[in-house]
Amino acid sequence: MNWVIEDKPDVEGYALSDVLNRVIWGNCLEVMRKLPAEIADLVFVDPPYYLQLPKRKLIRWSGTVVEGVDESWDQFESFEEYDAFTEAWLTAVRRLMKPQATLWVIGTYHNIFRVGTILQDLGFWILNNVLWVKTNPVPNFRRVRFTNATETLLWVVKDKEVKSYTINFDQVKAFGMGKVGANVWQLPVCAGKERVKGEDGRKLHPTQKPERLLERVILSSSNPGDVVLDPMAGVGTTGVVAHRHGRRFILIEREPRYVAAIEQRLWPGIWSLSGE
Ligand SMILES: C[S@@+](CC[C@H](N)C(=O)[O-])C[C@H]1O[C@@H](n2cnc3c(N)ncnc32)[C@H](O)[C@@H]1O
Repeated sequence: MNWVIEDKPDVEGYALSDVLNRVIWGNCLEVMRKLPAEIADLVFVDPPYYLQLPKRKLIRWSGTVVEGVDESWDQFESFEEYDAFTEAWLTAVRRLMKPQATLWVIGTYHNIFRVGTILQDLGFWILNNVLWVKTNPVPNFRRVRFTNATETLLWVVKDKEVKSYTINFDQVKAFGMGKVGANVWQLPVCAGKERVKGEDGRKLHPTQKPERLLERVILSSSNPGDVVLDPMAGVGTTGVVAHRHGRRFILIEREPRYVAAIEQRLWPGIWSLSGE
């Protein structure tokens, strides 16, 4: 069984049955164009943050080097270029969402305000912003500002008229902070056994998300059997969690080293997948 589909220019389109419970290796802008409309019940996107880190090495006061996100996929020439990319993938995602589907986008202060403006301009309607408070953030190594310990998740529907989207309120309440289930999630960053390592023993992906974060997203806003799409899948955290909870998934990722990691991570344990 071929779990990884390599997207090629001569492929004009994919049927849903071709891509369910698969990872498509390719540029998500190209791939999403080739997928049928209204296939996803839930979409999770963890896009490049465009961190704009300085080119020089950052050294902690303790003398150790900070491992930032300096991968080529996080590089853009300007905010204009980043905004154009954001608008393109949001437009493509919108076409793939079923009418009652919801979309989650995660980001930091570097990008989330831009993403929020663009998605509102496209007609999406924001249901919530959920604040992920990291219980073990990287301290501010240069001691020049507050330690950044939060990321923001925007939870949105296609437009204001969408009312009967999936919300599993018991879980929403259980995951949220305090008795009222407020929109604050306290969780550690990804570490330990679930962190995917490269051959050199170091972390393979700089921004791998913790499974517990995806668990909250998927359990609160989808049902067993639903189709969960992640068009910039990294090392496949969304697919791992979706499968664990009986959801189907479609993953897209452009970098071959991450696609290989997704294959390792997902398929050794799920030979029973039918792919439908
Ligand atoms: C922030 S990371 C996602 C990490 C992921 N949530 C995880 O837990 O592993 C963003 C990913 O988007 C991928 N990416 C960026 N642009 C892409 C594009 N045009 N098509 C497909 N993947 C893309 C990058 O290679 C990177 O792995």
